[in-house]
Amino acid sequence: MIIAIDGPSGAGKSTLGKMLAKKLNLLYLDTGAMYRAVALAVTRAGVPFRDIDRIADIAENSEIDLVGEPDAMKVMLDGQDVSVDIRTLDAAQSASVVSTISEVRRIMVEHQRIIGNSAPNGCVLEGRDIGSVVFPHADIKFFLTAKPEARARRRYTEDQAKGRISTYEQTLAEINERDERDVSREDSPLTIADDAVVIDTSELDLHEVFEQMLAKISEKRASAA
Ligand code: DC
Repeated sequence: MIIAIDGPSGAGKSTLGKMLAKKLNLLYLDTGAMYRAVALAVTRAGVPFRDIDRIADIAENSEIDLVGEPDAMKVMLDGQDVSVDIRTLDAAQSASVVSTISEVRRIMVEHQRIIGNSAPNGCVLEGRDIGSVVFPHADIKFFLTAKPEARARRRYTEDQAKGRISTYEQTLAEINERDERDVSREDSPLTIADDAVVIDTSELDLHEVFEQMLAKISEKRASAA
């Protein structure tokens, strides 16, 4: 079973993806973490973002692995745990730039298909192009969205809890900037697949969304049986 979850940042994809993977005993793949790991490798190598050939080379030759249970997943880059380093604001912005490069996307998509197809019970993949490009024949596709203000509020609250210094206005501006890049890039922009179940999470709490998603999955399974 392949479950695709797409949507803009801060819509709840990771939290809900992990909850679904745990509940249904599926592998969980955070594809954004893979783009973040490439971006980190590029930054560490001191390669400028305009040097597409060298960036593609780094994407091709870096070993990126996601290991462990969904709740405690570690992101490994060439054998080193970079789970914390990829979550900085800089890494997010760099990932948003690196993910516009077609060659990087081609390499990541190939990797994601191999991981998804080899998961024994199936996989929950979350990202921006899962239902449109990576697994266009996914068993079920969700598109989670929320108003930018709601997403910024959530991100801001999380950042405060982690002791990061930022303002709500900065967080909202960053979200808008990343949204703009995600939807306007030429290769695999963020789009809603025709057959996706769209859920606006602005006014819903996590458990309400989770229940809606589980109900849709049961419906799909029943109609496929
Ligand atoms: O979901 P995230 O914020 O960790 O993703 C980091 C960046 O990677 C984000 O700017 C969008 C990009 N991304 C993408 O282009 N395609 C994906 N499948 C996942 C993420």
